[in-house]
Amino acid sequence: MRVTIFGTGYVGLVTGTCLADVGHDVVCVDIDEGKVAALQRGEIPIFEPGLAPMVRSNHAAGRLDFTTDAAAAIARGEVIFIAVGTPPGEDGSADLQYVLAVARTIGRHLDRPGIVVNKSTVPVGTADRVRETIAGELQARGVDVTFGVASNPEFLKEGDAVNDFMRPDRIVIGASDAHVIERLKRLYAPFNRNHERIVVMDVRSAELTKYAANAMLATKISFMNEMANIAERVGADIEMVRQGIGSDPRIGWHFIYPGAGYGGSCFPKDVQALARTAQQVGYRAELLQAVEGVNERQKHHLFELIRRHYDGDIAGRTFAVWGLAFKPNTDDMREASSRVLLQQLWDAGARVRAYDPEARRETQRIFGERDDLVLCDSANAALVDADALVVVTEWKQFRSPDFARLRATLSDAVLFDGRNIYHPDEVEAAGIAYYGIGRGR
Ligand code: UGA
Repeated sequence: MRVTIFGTGYVGLVTGTCLADVGHDVVCVDIDEGKVAALQRGEIPIFEPGLAPMVRSNHAAGRLDFTTDAAAAIARGEVIFIAVGTPPGEDGSADLQYVLAVARTIGRHLDRPGIVVNKSTVPVGTADRVRETIAGELQARGVDVTFGVASNPEFLKEGDAVNDFMRPDRIVIGASDAHVIERLKRLYAPFNRNHERIVVMDVRSAELTKYAANAMLATKISFMNEMANIAERVGADIEMVRQGIGSDPRIGWHFIYPGAGYGGSCFPKDVQALARTAQQVGYRAELLQAVEGVNERQKHHLFELIRRHYDGDIAGRTFAVWGLAFKPNTDDMREASSRVLLQQLWDAGARVRAYDPEARRETQRIFGERDDLVLCDSANAALVDADALVVVTEWKQFRSPDFARLRATLSDAVLFDGRNIYHPDEVEAAGIAYYGIGRGR
């Protein structure tokens, strides 16, 4: 099938590439000429394992192209995806200006029947606004063509996006028109081979499904962070508690890891946006507000542990920080807990020597040059002249450090483990003071 995708961010680029990989004929549209030119050369603007070679091979095979020419892309696409950003507006609600701008562009150029599919995370009711916007433009041009609008939210995780797309748990199609449903089922047939993964529903339910999924996952994390804070105070170890509850299939092992708080481009934004949607329809979403509140507090927790250990005497000290990205396997720093920690350390007069395998450039872009930040080339380099180590992101390479070396290098011999990746006994046996999340030490 001929597919057009607006937006070459995470969602658009992964969607376009994976659809091309199963044989569809895809063109991705972006307004950024530099980005389009780079993609045509096979340069990927994001760090996403496995994506770059797929972009190159599908581009070389002629199934995947990139353009700024929206008119031509609309003229050829049977299915037109909207996969542009929905950043939070000032009041926390999703800003739809980019989605609606694409809808206007589609309305200005559509001249034969088409299917418009929204993949961006958008508040319930947006598909209706997209439909009205396109219809308005068509009417202004005096063009009478039929088109369908569907919602098809994306559930991919950064760092595992290709795998999530190629082997989805479910494919949610929100549409009411039988023809639209049939075409989208065909589009996704290659991903739906061994058992039925396609869930068809009405548009509004599909739009809410996306928010409900992210809000549920964020709730699990905030719940565990709350438990960790209670565990700390009653002398229990949250890691034992986690193992004690995860085995219950009703609770499950996933997303029950306490830590320095959740970040990224989705959970913080989506929880807020959903709470805002609820408020707009006259419902106070107390649980969602608490989920967000607990997470905000949790982002300050590592600094609290540090402050307590040093009895507030932090000025002039140097902290090695391992991991800056909001999670491993990405260079994404959006809403990362490290940003809160770094700012608090600087405000308290400390210096930071940081290492992240991928987020160095992003960190530099965000914080610029400053005397109290040294970005290092390796985990060991970050330890040089440091008084203490703080682990913020659980990259695999941080999992088994040489504790004797840590002991010898860190002048205060103390480790703050923001993701509970070490065994306290092992750290302490090496003569290093250990602080984790919710472990009573
Ligand atoms: C999330 C969802 O997991 C995807 O299903 C969804 O499609 C995506 O948002 C989206 O809406 O686009 P992502 O933001 O890439 O994906 O990252 P996650 O792997 O979900 O991690 C989010 C944050 O939660 C990270 O900061 C991570 O460290 C934290 N986390 C995760 C915990 O603190 N504890 C856990 O047990 C799990």
